[in-house]
Amino acid sequence: MSIVVTGGAGYIGAHVVRALASSGQDVVVVDDLSTSDAGRVAGVPLHRLDLTAPGADELVADVLRESRATAVVHLAAKKQVGESVARPEWYYRQNVGGLATVLEAARRTGCDRLVFSSSAAVYGEPASGVVDETTVAAPINPYGRTKLVGEWMVQDAGRAWGLRHLSLRYFNVAGAAVPELGDPAVLNLVTLVLDHLERGRRPVLFGDDYPTPDGSCVRDYVHVADLASAHVAALDYLGRDARDVEVLDVGLGRGSSVLEVLAAVERVTGLPTAPEVAPRRPGDPARLVATARRVRETLGWEPTHDLTSMVASAWEAWRHQRDAGLEPLRAG
Ligand SMILES: NC(=O)c1ccc[n+]([C@@H]2O[C@H](COP(=O)([O-])OP(=O)(O)OC[C@H]3O[C@@H](n4cnc5c(N)ncnc54)[C@H](O)[C@@H]3O)[C@@H](O)[C@H]2O)c1
Repeated sequence: MSIVVTGGAGYIGAHVVRALASSGQDVVVVDDLSTSDAGRVAGVPLHRLDLTAPGADELVADVLRESRATAVVHLAAKKQVGESVARPEWYYRQNVGGLATVLEAARRTGCDRLVFSSSAAVYGEPASGVVDETTVAAPINPYGRTKLVGEWMVQDAGRAWGLRHLSLRYFNVAGAAVPELGDPAVLNLVTLVLDHLERGRRPVLFGDDYPTPDGSCVRDYVHVADLASAHVAALDYLGRDARDVEVLDVGLGRGSSVLEVLAAVERVTGLPTAPEVAPRRPGDPARLVATARRVRETLGWEPTHDLTSMVASAWEAWRHQRDAGLEPLRAG
């Protein structure tokens, strides 16, 4: 009996694999290693396959059968917003097509539990900056739309053939459980700032005139180890007879502004982070913070890391990557 984790070699996936293994589960990874490397899940069975390749549904079905999978955690996806705007059809093939492959294989083999990686990007630019799962989902880019379609797909599979499913809408993920598992991508604020500092550049602040206390955008940051433990709890939830929830926001329910993140980076690294101010970017809401009430009530989940811990572990991981000679993955 095992849990199959698609995208398990990735930044978040490797943390989910680690959390499941420490909770005593056997784990099998399915990943094409397009944005990751196998070293992150050394010792864990890994099937290298592209979920969008012809015949992938049969290959995934074989993995589910052979590993006697009781559930799938589906993280495999592409996640760059700008790239999704430039290449929407490819994003739909990757994110929607990849999920269709997994659902097809799950249905064929009778594997009836699935946790889906969704995103706060489904909220777009909500009128109120504090959201919960009753807030209307209105994504403003193809990436966010592929995530919302993914939520609909797993819900439809639930109605059609009884799939037990839960979509987790991750807010801003940062940090590392151990230095070897840091975020290799320079796409989120914390790694973007570390990358700038490393290259002797000043961080860039996009907009300092938002209607927030310090004028910079406010987001909800969650430590990747806390996020991983939410997946373990989500799988337990899917084993319950009474289930009335289909989506959960996973954030701390606390907002941090860009300037507060910069101050945390300065405290942790000792490097000056005074930013260069640039104009606002289109599609950046002033504030996007979860209430995170439902995830606590439903899963009994309690995050244990604060912003300083996220930044400190991200910095440690950043230096580890640099010492290992690994190049960060910058936006393409
Ligand atoms: N990092 C964040 O802040 C964040 C926020 C919200 C949601 N998410 C979602 O979480 C999930 C994991 O994100 P991550 O940050 O770990 O990204 P990541 O790029 O590190 O991990 C994605 C993994 O999926 C694999 N993959 C991609 N396409 C594949 C395909 N066609 N077939 C097989 N494997 C494939 C990659 O090789 C990689 O290992 C994604 O679904 C992403 O959309 C991430």
